[in-house]
This record gives sequence, C-alpha cells and structure tokens, in this order.
Amino acid sequence: MSQDIHSEKILILDFGSQYTQLIARRVREAHVYCELHPFDMDLDAIRAFEPKGIILSGGPKSVYEEGAPEVEEALFELGVPVLGICYGMQIMARHFGGQVVPAGKREYGHATLHPCGSPGPLFDEFFVEGKSPVWMSHGDHVEEVPAGFEVVAYSENAPVCAIQNVERNLYGVQFHPEVNHTPRGEQLIDTFVRRICGCSGQWTPGHIIEDAVARIREQVGGQRVILGLSGGVDSSVAAALIQRAIGKQLVCVFVDNGLLRLDEGDQVMRTFAQNMGVNVIRVNAEDRFMAALEGIADPERKRKIIGNLFVEIFEEESAKIEDAVWLAQGTIYPDVIESAGAKTGKAHNIKSHHNVGGLPEHMKLNLLEPLRELFKDEVRAIGEELGLPHPMVYRHPFPGPGLGVRILGEVKKEYADILRRADAIYIEELYRTGHYDKISQAFAVFLPVRSVGVMGDGRTYEYVIALRAVETKDFMTAGWYPLPYADMAHISGRIINEVKGVNRVVYDISSKPPATIEWE
Ligand code: XMP
Repeated sequence: MSQDIHSEKILILDFGSQYTQLIARRVREAHVYCELHPFDMDLDAIRAFEPKGIILSGGPKSVYEEGAPEVEEALFELGVPVLGICYGMQIMARHFGGQVVPAGKREYGHATLHPCGSPGPLFDEFFVEGKSPVWMSHGDHVEEVPAGFEVVAYSENAPVCAIQNVERNLYGVQFHPEVNHTPRGEQLIDTFVRRICGCSGQWTPGHIIEDAVARIREQVGGQRVILGLSGGVDSSVAAALIQRAIGKQLVCVFVDNGLLRLDEGDQVMRTFAQNMGVNVIRVNAEDRFMAALEGIADPERKRKIIGNLFVEIFEEESAKIEDAVWLAQGTIYPDVIESAGAKTGKAHNIKSHHNVGGLPEHMKLNLLEPLRELFKDEVRAIGEELGLPHPMVYRHPFPGPGLGVRILGEVKKEYADILRRADAIYIEELYRTGHYDKISQAFAVFLPVRSVGVMGDGRTYEYVIALRAVETKDFMTAGWYPLPYADMAHISGRIINEVKGVNRVVYDISSKPPATIEWE
C-alpha cells in the first residue's frame, strides 16, 4: 500500500443537527477521511484520534438552555483548526467570551451574505461579486464577537454571520455550508479541510480499494469467508471487494426466494460467477418460500417468515462450507452511525427499518465488514471502480422481503410472475425515457382484486397493477414523482397488452407520510 489514507482525518462532533451526516459527506467529497462522534467525546479520545481539523455541527438547542450540549472546552486549545457551524459557532463564541443572544425571530431559509472586509483564507473564494447566498436555520445568534475574532460576513437580518481568528485557525459560520441551498458551501468545506487543515486529499476510490484490500488480506489471512449475496448494492460491492482481496477464499451464497425481480437471479450469476469468477452458490428456494407463505396475508408475518427462512437456508448452506471462519456483511457507515445513535439515544433521525435476517449469534463466525467506513455514494464509486455494471450500482433500493411486500395479502407464484413482468416493463420504460435516475425508488405493486374490462370482442375480469415512483433524500419522507401523462399512457398500454392477467393499471399519487413508500 502506498500511503495510509487514514493519516489525514477530520473529526466532526455532532450536536444533533439534522444535517450532521451531510457535513461528513462534504468532507469525504473533498477526498478526506472523517468520522462523526457525539459532542461529548472526551479529550483523551479526541487527542488519540489525531484530527487534522475539527468541525462542530449545528444542533437544535440554545447554548443557554438547561442541559444544552457542551464540548470539552480544552479542545479549542489543542492547536487544531476548528470550524463551528451554527450551534458550533455559538459554542466557540461563548468559549472565547463573546455573547450569544436569542434572535427576535427564528431565521430559517435563504439569506444573502456580504463580506465585511477582506475575507481571509477560508472565505476568499466564498463571495462572488460581493455576495454569497446561504441557508440559515437558527434561533440564537452571536451579538458580541469575542476578543481576538473579527466579523467576516453580515446579512440584512444579522450583523454577525461568520467570524474568524485567522492566527489561531478558528472559524465560525452561522449558516449551513453543508446543504445544497448554500451553493458555495461545498467549496468552503473543501477549503477548510485542504487549505486550513492541510489535508492533501487521499480519500479517493482507488486508494479506498487499495486500503480495504490490504486490510481484508491482513484480517482474513488464508481463511475462508462466506457472504450472503442479495443482488443489492452493498452486498454486491462487498463481494467484489473481497473477491479482489482474497479471490477463491470467498464463497457467496445467493438465495433465490422466488420474490426477486425478473431475471435477477440470472443477472447476479452472470455478473459475479461468469464475469468476475466469484465462487457463488445459488440456492433455488422458490418452492420453500411459496410453501411457507401459503395462506399468510399479514405484512409483518410475511416479513418474519421470509426473514427467518432466509436465515435457515443460509445456515444450511454455510454448514456445508466447513472451514468458513468469517461472515462478510455489507454494513455501511450510516448503519454504524444509526445503531450507535440508537444505543446512546443521541441520534435524531433513527431509521426504523430493519433489514431482513440478522444472522443468529450461534453461527460463531467472525464479522468482516469492509464497507463500514463508507457512505452510499462512496460504495457506489468503488463498485464502479471494481468493474460492477453501472445499472447494478445505481439501482433503486429493493426491500429484503422483495415482492413479498409488493403482492398485497397472500403471496402466490402466479401473482409474483405477473408482477415481475409488469415491473420489468415499467422499469425498462423509466430507463428509456430518462426518468429512472431522477426517481429515488420506483416499482410495480400487485393488487389481488379483479376488475372488468374489454379486449377485442370479449369481456375480461383480471388483476390490477399499481405503479409507484417517489422522490426522496432520506426515505423518511417522500413525494410522488410527477411522471408525464404521455409516459404513463405508454407504460400502461404496454403492461396491459403484454402481461396476461392484467387489464387495469393505476398510478399512486400518495406522499409519505401519511402513506409509506411500499404498500405493505
Ligand atoms: P417505507 O415503505 O417504510 O419504506 O416507506 C422506506 C424504505 O425502506 C424499504 N423497506 C424495507 N427494506 N426490509 C427492507 O430491507 C423491509 O422489510 C422493508 N420495508 C420497506 C423501502 O423499500 C423503502 O426504500
């Protein structure tokens, strides 16, 4: 390995802002490694982390509120550059003897910043023609600037929008540079981590792969690894990465549960087994899943049955691989942050979704999680670099229980076959018309009700297919995608003509909340 890509790192202390993960993503986009930790991380741990710079996030509280989160104040004396964002700036201002006061009214939304004088090293590319649009979201603001600091920018509503002490490398901004509504924000964070903190930007897809390959080899040695391949982005990239590191020591188990998309099983085998030479055991378990689901209509019971049966089959298959020592999983950084947040109760946006089939502890395998440090964008980037096909890496998310929660009520093979074909036409058309990449998640749903139609001279009495397409950033809330009428008409026509058993297609115009993205 040419260099240690973890030698340059930025520490982000989280005060509970909904935007904290975005700060981390912006730092990574500047090709610098960073970690997100709770605001009360102790000083020894901070020292041991050896950050090249520290970013203090925003937060929902007021610095004067009872129980307001505080930092180890000595962190400002470490000699490490600090950027405080919103609440983070207020903490910094107060530490150095400035005054923070509640604003007359909460400022939320767009604002325009102007420089007060010469902007200095962090801000000198931030203003274009004497201004820069930003996104504000705060109640309190800095009224009195601490000694040693100068005001860098003001807006119409607030005389102090950014402060700095250039000599000591301390910077504070009242606005949110991490969100897209602050167009020069990405550049500001880039300048902070590179110019102010002196990071050179080693965190690139190529280096991430090199580093991961070396670490996997070191961890695993000559032992065997098994991995449950689902066809989803995370497990696929994990498989490709581990294959690159240890080749035939990796055995993937791919369980075809009969609830996958059209030809998905064959595609997975083609990509991994044929093209990449990965050792994949394909288990055709459709009959077992259909039998287990017979007569079951309740969505949560269906989820449990599918999840449990997957674990059972995975265990049966892994038992045949006697020398397996490692179990690889495609855990990614947001999963790590969320489960840590769920444990301490400090995280704000805790996702309620549960992936299918946590594997039982009695399997006694060591966990190998080569994507643990990566955000989804980074997983995709290294997936492409490893040679996985673009559509596989940029595919919409697909739930663990698959079509099992897209066939309403009882699942039958006949229904799954109809749904698969309708869904394939829908997705093919979304790609063809250029909508696919603008949509966060799209799929067809099978409604087990029949309605009357006419075809030629005859009356039909057949099933209904519903089409769903949503736009969302975090899958916690979502809006329905405004697919043009002409495209809807074409898709509906194709499904009704080409899929036997369907004579009616409807488009779902419900947002989340109150609806959910999936129908079950
Ligand atoms: P909902 O339907 O809750 O979906 O709005 C939000 C996101 O989660 C996915 N989803 C699941 N993923 N197992 C999964 O692995 C599940 O049981 C499950 N249910 C929903 C859904 O596809 C969407 O991306």
